[in-house]
Amino acid sequence: MIIRMDKLIKAIGAALDLVEGELLGATTYHGKRVAVLAAAMGQRLGIGRETTLPLTVCALFHDNALTEYILSERLGEGQGQMMRLHCEYGQRNVDSLMFKENAAGFVLYHHERPNGEGPFGKQEGEIPLGAELIGAADSFDVIHQLEQVQPEELPKLHQELWDNMGTIYTRRAVLAMMSVLNEDMLRSLRNDRIKETAGNYIPAWSISLKDHVLFNLAQFVIRIIDYKSVFTRKHTSQIANKAWLLGGHYGYGPGLRAQFYLAAALHDIGKLAIPPAILEKPGPLDKEEFEIIKSHSVKTREFLEGIDGFEHISEWAANHHEKLNGSGYPAGKRAEDLDFNSRLLACIDIYQAVSEERPYHPGRDHQTTIKIMYEMVDKGELDRDIVRDFDRVLAEWSGRDVPPPEF
Ligand SMILES: [Fe+2]
Ligand SMILES: [Fe+2]
Ligand SMILES: [Fe+2]
Ligand SMILES: [Fe+2]
Repeated sequence: MIIRMDKLIKAIGAALDLVEGELLGATTYHGKRVAVLAAAMGQRLGIGRETTLPLTVCALFHDNALTEYILSERLGEGQGQMMRLHCEYGQRNVDSLMFKENAAGFVLYHHERPNGEGPFGKQEGEIPLGAELIGAADSFDVIHQLEQVQPEELPKLHQELWDNMGTIYTRRAVLAMMSVLNEDMLRSLRNDRIKETAGNYIPAWSISLKDHVLFNLAQFVIRIIDYKSVFTRKHTSQIANKAWLLGGHYGYGPGLRAQFYLAAALHDIGKLAIPPAILEKPGPLDKEEFEIIKSHSVKTREFLEGIDGFEHISEWAANHHEKLNGSGYPAGKRAEDLDFNSRLLACIDIYQAVSEERPYHPGRDHQTTIKIMYEMVDKGELDRDIVRDFDRVLAEWSGRDVPPPEF
């Protein structure tokens, strides 16, 4: 089975766009604008093809650790320390993607300043070129909101770059930015063009479903999703690990098992589109809030459909809140519309949600969880055979985390 990696990366980028807007106050498509600018600057400086793609992907995901970073903020760490963590987690996460050697320090040092005022105190000449370019594009877009700059403002922007050379921007970055930032570039950064422009910098490439990169990518997404909410820190990772475990129990071959694992890792990616105030509300939701929460499974489908090789994955992931008797959401599907893996993933999601500690209920052991699930079976919501299998397979994991698959 072959997966279109470029499309998957774009889907994750689209999800991340929403988090950025919400947590950072950056304007929509910030990640994409930084990716385009950094890649264009890199090409102007003559970097090779082997660096262009890593640079583009690192730039697109430069703020991937936003959810982890915000979490540290809530836990009350100091400002400087938070910034370092944001950079360190961000680099660790992109390292799990495919181009470790070609992207060393690109995210880690994206907040360094040529005058040494960044979180790690690196100075001009000590910062990897990729980090210089990402950092320059990042600051420049945050300061000027490039999607709305008019052509007549260009001279002023160029002047501003020049004036801040050596403080905010390195010399190389200023020269490269001045050379790529023209009317054409401004047009291609506008909101109605940016998706297409960014897409042009990410060439079509495919990888095999068995490739370990896909598992790394799953881990990458899991971290972003799970860190968005303090209350569900292990939710996605435990669902993915249990999906892998159960795939083994049912004798899935490597391809199907990997697909199912990915569906589990991505099932709640739509939650990135839900405001934290609603996700984390420590009490019952009103009707309107519940409707917004429910929209996350629609969003999951929107993010994942259209990725070649993801036809089943997006179906299983998007069906995870459907019930056999039609009482689920978003489509109110019934047993005949729900294949085995859709039913299985729905059961894993419920098992995890019922057993993990939430603001409105305590953590529950295996026996209690299964009892609650049988009540749902009796109402016609869940597949009885699957719940019976869970009772056997998951009993030994009561109160313990299922470890991630090893590759
Ligand atoms: Fe950042
Ligand atoms: Fe940024
Ligand atoms: Fe969900
Ligand atoms: Fe879930």
